[in-house]
Amino acid sequence: MAKLKTAVIGCGGRGRNHTEAYAQSKDTELAAFVDIVPERAKQLSEKYPGAAAYTDYRKMLREVKPDVVAMCTWPESHKRIVVAAARAGAKIINAEKPMAPTYGEALAMHRECEKAGAVCTYSHQRRFSSDFVKAKQLLKDGAIGELRRLEGSCPNMFDWGTHWFDMMFFFNDQVPASWVMAQIDVSRDSKVFGATLETSGVSFVKFQNEVNGLMITTSEGGEPPANALMDRGGFLVVGTEGTMLVHAHECPLELRRIGGKKPERPDLSKVEVLHPDPTIAGILDSIDAWKKGREPELASRKALMATELIFATYESSRSRGRIALPLKTKDSALLAMLADGQIGYAKSGRK
Ligand SMILES: NC(=O)c1ccc[n+]([C@@H]2O[C@H](COP(=O)([O-])OP(=O)(O)OC[C@H]3O[C@@H](n4cnc5c(N)ncnc54)[C@H](O)[C@@H]3O)[C@@H](O)[C@H]2O)c1
Repeated sequence: MAKLKTAVIGCGGRGRNHTEAYAQSKDTELAAFVDIVPERAKQLSEKYPGAAAYTDYRKMLREVKPDVVAMCTWPESHKRIVVAAARAGAKIINAEKPMAPTYGEALAMHRECEKAGAVCTYSHQRRFSSDFVKAKQLLKDGAIGELRRLEGSCPNMFDWGTHWFDMMFFFNDQVPASWVMAQIDVSRDSKVFGATLETSGVSFVKFQNEVNGLMITTSEGGEPPANALMDRGGFLVVGTEGTMLVHAHECPLELRRIGGKKPERPDLSKVEVLHPDPTIAGILDSIDAWKKGREPELASRKALMATELIFATYESSRSRGRIALPLKTKDSALLAMLADGQIGYAKSGRK
């Protein structure tokens, strides 16, 4: 097979991480780097002989016609770039999370890739990290009995929350959600990667198999440990016979069995993962999926399910009630409520 011509759009932190994956894959050759800051694209293109540097992704798509596109810019530009890449004939698009600032944009990106027949993934790469892989294995093996509840704690529903909503689907085998009931509040102006966020929120999700999901967010009081639901921050998997705390900062996985004498620390050293770097693993899996005609683990279809929970959370807050899924509204209720003054740091009287 001829090597897949690969272009990286957005050469910041994530762009460099994606680049490592293509540099390690035997199936890809790095053909172009694009960044609106010329030095960033130039720096990477100099590292990979034969790769060109661009400042305009549309020009690059026309001239290079890449087979693979990595989209690593901030959310505001995600839809434009993914849609342009799909229309330009990219076979594989590895995009960064969160999908987009509105649900309508996320749907449009997903549908455009489906229409073009492109394999599209979003970096919810914890699906490949040893702590989550091990926790899912333990759940399957019955270590905590039957799954009952999934709880995430993090700074916000959108930028970080997209990972935790995705993890709910990961542990619950992609069973769709039936409804969401939630509340969000904006008491200070907060943006991450240019995207507006709530200051605090709570979201209760009912899955079709009666498993419950709970997400608690706040960016007040500093970084995640200070807003932790479970004192160290992380993701909690609750079963009929025990719990697993995953991804807490100083302890990647802790298992507590009901009646157990003390918490267990499962051995992660022998967990089989595709690559020790979960981002690289996700990209290698997407290339393998394209070659075999199967769905990749980080498929756009799955990312859209997590994204729907983000926007259903905002919508529930706007509607003051339970939101049945599929979600019908296509805007961002968070942005709409801020725009019409229903919520906001100005309204809260705080600076
Ligand atoms: N998956 C994860 O765990 C994870 C972690 C961090 C960030 N992210 C996500 O990755 C994305 C990028 O984050 P980052 O940390 O790499 O940001 P960054 O600021 O380090 O890099 C973004 C780059 O994109 C460039 N850029 C902006 N608009 C462009 C355009 N139209 N064309 C070409 N280049 C453009 C910027 O100049 C910058 O160099 C964000 O959506 C963020 O949420 C994901």
